[in-house]
Amino acid sequence: MARFIFLLLAFLILITDVTIISICNGNSVHAVCSESEKKALLKFKQGIVDRTNRLASWVSDGDCCRWTGIVCDNMTGHVIELHLRTTPPWEVHYYVVDDYEADDAYERSRLGGKISPSLLHLKHLSYLDLSNNDFGGIHIPKFFGSLGSLQYLNLSHAKFGGEVPHHLGNLSNLKYLNLGNNYHHTMYVENLHWLSSLSSLEYLDLSYVNLSQASNWFHALNTFPSLVELHLSYCQLPYQVNPIASVNLSSLATLSLSQNYFQNLSMINWVFGLKNLISLDLGDNDIEGPIPYGLRNLTLLNHLDLSNFK
Ligand SMILES: *[C@@H]1O[C@H](CO)[C@@H](O)[C@H](O)[C@H]1NC(C)=O
Ligand SMILES: *[C@@H]1O[C@H](CO)[C@@H](O)[C@H](O)[C@H]1NC(C)=O
Ligand SMILES: *[C@@H]1O[C@H](CO)[C@@H](O)[C@H](O)[C@H]1NC(C)=O
Ligand SMILES: *[C@@H]1O[C@H](CO)[C@@H](O)[C@H](O)[C@H]1NC(C)=O
Ligand SMILES: *[C@@H]1O[C@H](CO)[C@@H](O)[C@H](O)[C@H]1NC(C)=O
Ligand SMILES: *[C@@H]1O[C@H](CO)[C@@H](O)[C@H](O)[C@H]1NC(C)=O
Ligand SMILES: *[C@@H]1O[C@H](CO)[C@@H](O)[C@H](O)[C@H]1NC(C)=O
Repeated sequence: MARFIFLLLAFLILITDVTIISICNGNSVHAVCSESEKKALLKFKQGIVDRTNRLASWVSDGDCCRWTGIVCDNMTGHVIELHLRTTPPWEVHYYVVDDYEADDAYERSRLGGKISPSLLHLKHLSYLDLSNNDFGGIHIPKFFGSLGSLQYLNLSHAKFGGEVPHHLGNLSNLKYLNLGNNYHHTMYVENLHWLSSLSSLEYLDLSYVNLSQASNWFHALNTFPSLVELHLSYCQLPYQVNPIASVNLSSLATLSLSQNYFQNLSMINWVFGLKNLISLDLGDNDIEGPIPYGLRNLTLLNHLDLSNFK
């Protein structure tokens, strides 16, 4: 038996680029992170401002697969997930508005600083969550577009700013993209054409991204038959959208277009072709006029927000 395990280990070392393999509980094989990925993470840590020392476990001796926020593939030891979201106080304990102590602790614990391109060494990274941090208005790094294995990217409420890099359009495996709620610094796009190449997308949140220059926003979005959830609140959406012949968003179940500048529902008549819609939020626009009959076509709808409808 021992001989068999030895052979198995020798084989595993041959077929992977993992440097060390340890045996836990005598029977399950558990891979340890590779030196190059560990180095990449330590380089990333150097650029990060971490006032409450959340990354204390990230030290050079030790297995990076056991560090806070890291998930490795059990078999290969490759880093596949990075969970660096800051948990807001209202999710942790009973929270009273204006609990200054809790608010202050939260603000201090938000990560900031620079994001090192050393992350590009994490070739198998499929999940990156940097939400609820405070990057002080820096741009979303262009090199994120080269993290080719990414399926999940959450940059919500992390104080990014400036133009969204169209390099993100290279992430063809992306299923989840959340750039919403970066409202402390203006984030904008001039053209959404790059979005069309994200053909696996199921969830998209661009709330608070200024889309007023993106005249093609609807056509860029109308290419996603797999999209289930779309949030475009407070996007300064342009006044004129040409009537659309066919709507491709056949899986869309949740749509939010609240806090934009739509003046009447005929400007967004394409919405009434979304037969699978369950939740529709059109609140806080300047919408006037009759509620169209088309609404009757949305037979699955169970949440409808038309607040401040005139
Ligand atoms: C990897 O190992 C962890 C901890 O032992 C376990 O919780 C997880 O389910 C395993 N994942 C896979 C894909 O085997
Ligand atoms: C993305 O981040 C935001 C802010 O932290 C959070 O509310 C949201 O649930 C996250 N998305 C997912 C799918 O976890
Ligand atoms: C990513 O996209 C940009 C612009 O959209 C392009 O210039 C660049 O060559 C792409 N990079 C890769 C690695 O595909
Ligand atoms: C959105 O962008 C347009 C064009 O750049 C600009 O005129 C407008 O002030 C921006 N809106 C906000 C709320 O920043
Ligand atoms: C709808 O999707 C199909 C297949 O992806 C594509 O060929 C077609 O051009 C799309 N239509 C529009 C209006 O984008
Ligand atoms: C809706 O608003 C647009 C833009 O103001 C206008 O051109 C159009 O005539 C309006 N349609 C209806 C039915 O009121
Ligand atoms: C609503 O459904 C009816 C019957 O299927 C169809 O004739 C009409 O064009 C639809 N309206 C919209 C706005 O999609």
